[in-house]
Amino acid sequence: MKLIVGNWKMNQNQEQVRAFFSALKSGPRQQEAWLAPQALHIGLALSLAPHDIKIGAQNSSEQDSGAFTGENSPATLKDLGASFVLVGHSERRQIFHETNVTCAAKTKRALSHNLAVIYCVGETLTEREAGQTLSVVKQQLRQGLSDLGGWHPGQLIVAYEPVWAIGTGKVATPAQAQEVHAAIRTELKEMYSAAGQAVRLLYGGSVKPDNVKELMGQTDIDGALVGGASLKATDFLALCQ
Ligand code: 13P
Repeated sequence: MKLIVGNWKMNQNQEQVRAFFSALKSGPRQQEAWLAPQALHIGLALSLAPHDIKIGAQNSSEQDSGAFTGENSPATLKDLGASFVLVGHSERRQIFHETNVTCAAKTKRALSHNLAVIYCVGETLTEREAGQTLSVVKQQLRQGLSDLGGWHPGQLIVAYEPVWAIGTGKVATPAQAQEVHAAIRTELKEMYSAAGQAVRLLYGGSVKPDNVKELMGQTDIDGALVGGASLKATDFLALCQ
């Protein structure tokens, strides 16, 4: 089974969240589905989501509590009933200046609360054109995921999202995505042996119902992290089929 994760980013009002879940009930889903609404809507989403859909956050703090105005506590996310967090999304890295070091601290903290972590990596267009894709991604993995302490199988997921493919309609070709996924698999195996090799790898960047099948057919692509096409229930259902 593939894992389809919707990242709603800073979209959807309460009415739209309600409409989404109501429409979702009408369609069949063959793949595993998770959703990350705005943190402000996690409670609402948890109250509406079918039991088999996990709800998570798009970001969480490297701290549990204290004087950190505006941050989302991973302890509170867990307490609310969230199941996972995204860490190191390229929008967090680029707009909010998160580094691999910050991401490592956030990952460790979230894992310690038994949240699953979807750790996001990916190169910019400049880095790809300079032939640096694999070295950038490997560094993001090494610096973000070394020395994690304990985590159990299934708790760590890696999403490869080439920055140039996010929200641009320019999807990586299945071969481009597979090449990077294979390199990520190898790196994780070197870092964490069999547990690393078993980490699920998601592709993200302009995934749509009409290109998902070919991408999911690649050996090392275990699912998708989807922005725009996860906002409409009909598209999300199509992806989950
Ligand atoms: P799009 O699917 O809108 O390109 O966004 C991808 C993404 O950033 C998911 O995290």
